[in-house]
Amino acid sequence: MGSNRDRHGRRCCRLLPLFPLILCLLSRPLAGSMSGKEGRGMPDVVVGYGYTVRSAAIDPSGTTLTAHLRLINRTSVYGPDIENLRLVASFEAGGRLRVRITDADHRRWEVPDDLIPRRSPSPSHRSLPEHTLTPPPPPPPPPPPPPACLSQCHLSAAASSDLVFVLHNTTPFSFSVSRRSSGDVLFDTSTSDPSAFLVFKDQYLQLSSSLPPGRSSLYGIGEHTKKSLRLQPNQTLTLWNADILSLTPDVNLYGSHPFYMDVRSAVGGGGGGKGVGAGTSHGVLLLNSNGMDVVYTGDRITYKVIGGVLDLYFFPGPSPEAVMEQYTELIGRPTPMPYWSFGFHQCRWGYKNVADLEGVVAGYAKAHIPLEVMWTDIDYMDAYKDFTLDPINFPVEKMKEFVSSLHKNGQKYVLVLDPGISVNKTYGTYIRGMQADIFIKREGVPYLGVVWPGPVYFPDFLHPSSESYWGGEIKRFHDVLPFDGLWLDMNELSNFITSPPLPSTLDNPPYTINNSGVNRPINNGTIPATSCHFGNISDYDAHNLYGLLEARATNKALVNVTGKRPFILSRSTFVSSGKHTAHWTGDNAATWDDLAYSIPAILNSGLFGIPMVGADICGFVQNTTEELCNRWIQLGAFYPFARDHSYKYSIGQELYLWESVAASSRKVLGLRYRLLPYLYTLMYEANRKGMPIARPLFFSFPEDTMTYDINSQFLIGKGLLVTPVLKSGAQTVDAYFPSGNWFDLFNYSNSVSTASGMNVMLDAPPDHPHLHVRGGNILAMQGEAMTTKAARRTPFELLVVVDGNGNSSGQVFLDDGEEVEMGGEGNNWTLVRFYSEKTGNDVVVRSKVVNGEFALNEKWVIDKVTVLGLREGAWMARLRGHETYNDVEAMAGQRTVTTMGKSSDGAEFVVVEVSGLSLPLGKTFELEVKLRRS
Ligand SMILES: *[C@@H]1O[C@H](CO)[C@@H](O)[C@H](O)[C@H]1NC(C)=O
Ligand SMILES: *[C@@H]1O[C@H](CO)[C@@H](O)[C@H](O)[C@H]1NC(C)=O
Ligand SMILES: *[C@@H]1O[C@H](CO)[C@@H](O)[C@H](O)[C@H]1NC(C)=O
Ligand SMILES: *[C@@H]1O[C@H](CO)[C@@H](O)[C@H](O)[C@H]1NC(C)=O
Ligand SMILES: *[C@@H]1O[C@H](CO)[C@@H](O)[C@H](O)[C@H]1NC(C)=O
Ligand SMILES: *[C@@H]1O[C@H](CO)[C@@H](O)[C@H](O)[C@H]1NC(C)=O
Repeated sequence: MGSNRDRHGRRCCRLLPLFPLILCLLSRPLAGSMSGKEGRGMPDVVVGYGYTVRSAAIDPSGTTLTAHLRLINRTSVYGPDIENLRLVASFEAGGRLRVRITDADHRRWEVPDDLIPRRSPSPSHRSLPEHTLTPPPPPPPPPPPPPACLSQCHLSAAASSDLVFVLHNTTPFSFSVSRRSSGDVLFDTSTSDPSAFLVFKDQYLQLSSSLPPGRSSLYGIGEHTKKSLRLQPNQTLTLWNADILSLTPDVNLYGSHPFYMDVRSAVGGGGGGKGVGAGTSHGVLLLNSNGMDVVYTGDRITYKVIGGVLDLYFFPGPSPEAVMEQYTELIGRPTPMPYWSFGFHQCRWGYKNVADLEGVVAGYAKAHIPLEVMWTDIDYMDAYKDFTLDPINFPVEKMKEFVSSLHKNGQKYVLVLDPGISVNKTYGTYIRGMQADIFIKREGVPYLGVVWPGPVYFPDFLHPSSESYWGGEIKRFHDVLPFDGLWLDMNELSNFITSPPLPSTLDNPPYTINNSGVNRPINNGTIPATSCHFGNISDYDAHNLYGLLEARATNKALVNVTGKRPFILSRSTFVSSGKHTAHWTGDNAATWDDLAYSIPAILNSGLFGIPMVGADICGFVQNTTEELCNRWIQLGAFYPFARDHSYKYSIGQELYLWESVAASSRKVLGLRYRLLPYLYTLMYEANRKGMPIARPLFFSFPEDTMTYDINSQFLIGKGLLVTPVLKSGAQTVDAYFPSGNWFDLFNYSNSVSTASGMNVMLDAPPDHPHLHVRGGNILAMQGEAMTTKAARRTPFELLVVVDGNGNSSGQVFLDDGEEVEMGGEGNNWTLVRFYSEKTGNDVVVRSKVVNGEFALNEKWVIDKVTVLGLREGAWMARLRGHETYNDVEAMAGQRTVTTMGKSSDGAEFVVVEVSGLSLPLGKTFELEVKLRRS
């Protein structure tokens, strides 16, 4: 026992590393409690004294620990304490650990299970008798516990988890979560600082964990506009969905995501454990929909929550990718997006009439800039009433013609909906809503707010009839005007008035979260917390869920109405919104700061499981400039969701309005459209495994600690690096290149090679952003076109970017782009995996095909293979198709093989292009590229 204790540096017992769930009961109080250096952080008044363990037991299944906790002493700050708590720690799918602490005697509000399904916390849900402190029968295989633990420790196994849960029976009690493999402590609530003790009151819950100073890089906890992707110490992150312009940094915005990823730096193997490799990552979710402040100091994270329960999930990783897979396994994988939604979108608040819309569509066509989707903001409505058309400026017949002409061009149309339903006795949507008794109430009558139409009621999406009501309205309107997608705005909920509070601690909670950065009342600019949803659920509890619930209902309605994969864009989000909708970063401004903020914002959305995301290109409020808009499209063309959107009182910013912007747009959107198969395949990976489309550099290079602080670059998928220009007047741009050989996608002869990562200053000509693809990746690309539909009919080019060993891999997913499911039952899709490897003097490129039929029917072919990353002194001597694939042989006469000399900057690589091929994508192939040493 002694050696175990030393090796893991822990005060309590440590058992065989096979058994991750450990309960340790020590009866000595925590040394130094209530005193010591940390006391400087003490508030003037003590909020809570913490709890002690009254009893604890492990259930017979061996994966669940239940403890009963008793309050040490009361305080009256923020209301009375809850005396008895129950803590349940349990291992679940994917090795995740759930730790749930709630009132032992009364049910409390929790995020509804049908929204985010979770396993019920096992039979131990019922109270366990006190005598369960005696050990339960050991689970199979019965391990011989070290002697010192016999009477004090209980344990159980979860074979697939690297996590260990330890309950410390100190005064006050605490718990910790660590890694079995390394002993690294991931979360630890023990402290001698009373201001960090566990507090559990009806309207104030506090939980705090220490973090290893300097070793822990945190990402997530949103939604906030931030300069830095990595959380910076000494800040309070407030979560309370609000219609606050996203141009405001560091305040609560439209969505709430109490999830973070913790990327650890290395620590040596000496002393504490086996050592932790740099980039070892885990995730932590506090599944709670109430308002909260999350205080991050660098060495501590403290949740201060105004309701609900403490329901924590720990995702073991250990790679950032594994964390995403585990996180989205719980909350739901991102919903697939239609192929067309990866095209370019144009929107504006302030298009005056149908002629305006037609003019914009024509403007794009004339400038030869791809336009996939035309949008309308609230302008199209009759007096801002949802599901109506302004009879003067957007008359129904003209709008039908307009939408039909878009469809004939292979283009799409998306319109906005706001949740507030105009109170107007001649308005069908209102009348049917009243008949279904669908609206949110306060004091027994529908709550009257004010939004664009004036007085409004808000549909209650917790009402069991809300889906048929909302779906019915959508269907009626779709029958009138066949729109292709819906944009859900103002759903925080936004309200133009703040109603006076009732004498209730819901409207006026004892602890004031830092709403809007100035402790504004939580009712400010939204519906009051005392508003009531179906089932007597207060908006105090359900507030942050509104956007999620609306997106869910809208998604179901669109599937029902169109039978196709929906496209929905929602401003407000919560944990699991990605299962239903895309997101944009809200009301930004046309400033260089906002251009830079957009990178952390889209990367965070990916971490929150909402990979389809973009910021308003060229900026929403304020007037953009030619230079800013030019740089913005150079970045925005590579957002997963690319939409230009502007404010009613700003100048127009359609991409064709300036010649320089138009030229840039043709170039970067041209490349985006060539990359559509790659982007779409990343959507598939998102839908399958929760992988973000746009990723922080540390996703692919977790061991490179230089990547942890990068805010101005990102990856699309694994190996495509975007380095935008973010400063006015810039002639150059500073780029960081992690290890590898990187090739300029606009000019394959330019490359950057580095063994361990380096900073490079790149030229930043006005018409040129930087995209580099790393050795080791194969990109399936297609041709440029004005619509995604036309682009899909062009032949494929395979860009094989081999690493130093000749290896590379990639894949492409193909379906019709609008089936409700992506890669579901049936064979209406094809997945092709590509590999290259060096065998002797050859580089062999091969494919493996799953469900080839679909791609064969679509007659997709690869007509060109480009190989990058081959060294000078080696060149293409011969290309041979595998004997069994006659198509290659048949085309032999037309094949041309080009090798280009070494690049201007002296790098030693050659570019090998093989064109004139006709390889069917749906069939496996093998290409041998013969190399000869000079
Ligand atoms: C509980 O708190 C009260 C008021 O702060 C104090 O007077 C009392 O001594 C405390 N009791 C214990 C057991 O700490
Ligand atoms: C955070 O605040 C503490 C206490 O005020 C201070 O000691 C520390 O230097 C601050 N850290 C940073 C990174 O600002
Ligand atoms: C109700 O809607 C109709 C049709 O748009 C409009 O003419 C009327 O002014 C509205 N009434 C109120 C009270 O807003
Ligand atoms: C789907 O549509 C049918 C008929 O159009 C309707 O009865 C049903 O309620 C709808 N379901 C949902 C979830 O909207
Ligand atoms: C919200 O509060 C701010 C100041 O605290 C006030 O100016 C604003 O009018 C309030 N919003 C609404 C909709 O009442
Ligand atoms: C934007 O430009 C328009 C037209 O020149 C002008 O009326 C408006 O005041 C400008 N807005 C801002 C915020 O500068």
